[in-house]
Amino acid sequence: MTSKVRKTIIIISLVALLTVVLTYGIADAKVTGPCSNCHTMHNSQQGAHMQYLAPGEEDIGPKGALLRGTCLGCHTATDGSTWKSSITGAPIVFNTSEPVFNEAKGLAAGNFYWVQTEDTKGHNIFSQDSKLSVAPGDMGFSGCGTNNCHTNFHLAVSGTGNPALDGKQGCTKCHMVNTVGPKGFHHKDDGTGTKYVDTAEKGWYRFLEGHMSGSGHGVAGIEDDDWQYTYSSTDHNEYLGSQVSGGYGFGGLGNTMTAYCTGCHGVFHDNQGTASPWLRHPSDKILPTSGEYAAYTTYDPLVPVARPSSFDWEGGPSSMVSGTHGDMVMCLSCHRAHASPYFKMMRWDYRGWPGSGATNGCNVCHTSKN
Ligand code: HEC
Ligand code: HEC
Ligand code: HEC
Ligand code: HEC
Ligand code: HEC
Ligand code: HEC
Repeated sequence: MTSKVRKTIIIISLVALLTVVLTYGIADAKVTGPCSNCHTMHNSQQGAHMQYLAPGEEDIGPKGALLRGTCLGCHTATDGSTWKSSITGAPIVFNTSEPVFNEAKGLAAGNFYWVQTEDTKGHNIFSQDSKLSVAPGDMGFSGCGTNNCHTNFHLAVSGTGNPALDGKQGCTKCHMVNTVGPKGFHHKDDGTGTKYVDTAEKGWYRFLEGHMSGSGHGVAGIEDDDWQYTYSSTDHNEYLGSQVSGGYGFGGLGNTMTAYCTGCHGVFHDNQGTASPWLRHPSDKILPTSGEYAAYTTYDPLVPVARPSSFDWEGGPSSMVSGTHGDMVMCLSCHRAHASPYFKMMRWDYRGWPGSGATNGCNVCHTSKN
């Protein structure tokens, strides 16, 4: 190679690198905009409180991290079509009128509107579930204090002696659980829909961090940049999975979504692979490479699969599904995380099928059953 050619190559590489660095820098998916959109220094302007509250939410005065809103305050909209706050850019997880956007009738996790209509349609963050006083499949933890995360969401935890847990209520019984107060997750750079978010530095997948034996762990995955407001086989979240024999929680299952759900619903995975026979639907089980399962080949965001650690995590979301690559059924293949229009937070109308218009999501994997 002549030195001229070498120089040109170096310059081209530098320009390419700079372009990557600059585009990346501009499009950070962490909060942006004037500080005052989200923070207030005294919680006072013209003598009045400066805050975002959800309808009916109690005015608790100044808030942690000098925020203008509670979690619910910033993440609520008072109509059925807003999916992102026009002021702060916050994704909406609770529409006070029936959400009309997209197939999920909410973003990827669903929408808390539905649990208000019927207890069984979601995690009850507003009031006591009329039938459940503990998470079904809970491992029977003791010593977790009063109103711990395994029993309900709407009441504050107390008596654990752990400052990170005492006071946790609603959203923070699931998000940011190991952290004292809100502490900077929103300012962490978690990419723009293609970055593998797998560490505390990146804020974990959707701020889902672990605690106790899961301390230092959280959920790993790729975060779709509009929270699946729009979605397709190439435009969606990716979730880490891990097929292991038995166990529950981050300690047992690694940084997977199923680990996360089984932190509170451990029985639903604990003896999978060790109990013979295992008599519950498997989660984090690789799709068989033959038979009906082999026909699920194009990713359907209505029925997501979890990916193994060998997945090309730096390559962004993939449109392919294949048992050969180790893709798995997991908790969120069938459920939404917050609430859905359907019984038991299902992603489709399992109970209503084969009624008119109801989808059979089971059939996306069990391609010969319909
Ligand atoms: C769009 C909303 C938004 C904007 C704009 C915003 N913040 Fe924040 N900030 C938050 C939220 C929400 C938290 C709570 C932290 C968490 O996620 O745990 C926070 C937390 C903080 C914290 C405490 C946690 C930490 O990282 O130490 C500081 C300090 C902070 N913000 C400073 C700022 C400053 C300075 C600006 C303007 C340059 C700003 N913020 C703009 C939403 C915002
Ligand atoms: C001042 C308004 C504000 C408050 C208060 C607030 N958020 Fe947010 N939240 C935002 C904004 C803006 C975003 C979008 C940031 C982004 O694009 O990553 C966001 C994003 C999120 C996300 C998605 C993260 C991601 O990676 O896409 C989660 C989860 C979340 N917030 C949870 C919470 C919880 C839990 C609380 C209470 C402890 C809270 N928020 C309080 C404004 C707020
Ligand atoms: C039972 C645990 C749980 C509770 C309670 C919970 N979340 Fe979530 N949240 C999750 C999970 C899991 C996801 C990721 C879902 C996915 O990617 O499919 C998520 C996703 C989100 C997102 C990203 C948008 C989306 O739909 O994916 C936001 C924002 C958010 N949560 C905010 C909140 C707020 C605000 C509250 C309280 C009003 C709350 N969450 C209560 C578990 C929970
Ligand atoms: C922090 C503990 C916790 C986590 C994490 C958690 N859950 Fe739950 N879950 C509960 C509790 C408590 C209940 C019972 C009260 C309720 O429904 O609100 C429940 C109820 C449920 C129900 C029945 C809803 C009803 O009202 O009949 C389903 C389905 C469910 N969870 C699925 C999941 C899935 C899927 C995940 C992972 C995305 C998950 N849970 C994560 C605590 C948790
Ligand atoms: C193949 C689809 C599918 C998968 C995968 C799945 N579930 Fe379910 N889940 C359902 C259905 C359907 C129901 C309704 C009751 C029934 O048919 O058993 C349900 C009910 C539940 C309930 C409510 C139980 C009650 O007593 O009310 C919880 C909690 C739950 N699932 C949690 C989980 C967790 C945690 C995982 C992952 C370990 C998971 N599910 C994986 C389909 C699934
Ligand atoms: C994301 C893919 C996926 C979805 C969606 C799914 N399953 Fe499965 N299902 C599997 C896998 C993988 C197995 C285990 C296959 C094996 O080990 O041979 C399985 C096994 C089963 C079994 C046999 C269990 C046994 O012990 O033999 C039944 C029954 C079943 N599923 C019913 C359902 C129903 C009903 C639904 C819808 C609520 C559903 N599945 C949704 C992937 C899925």
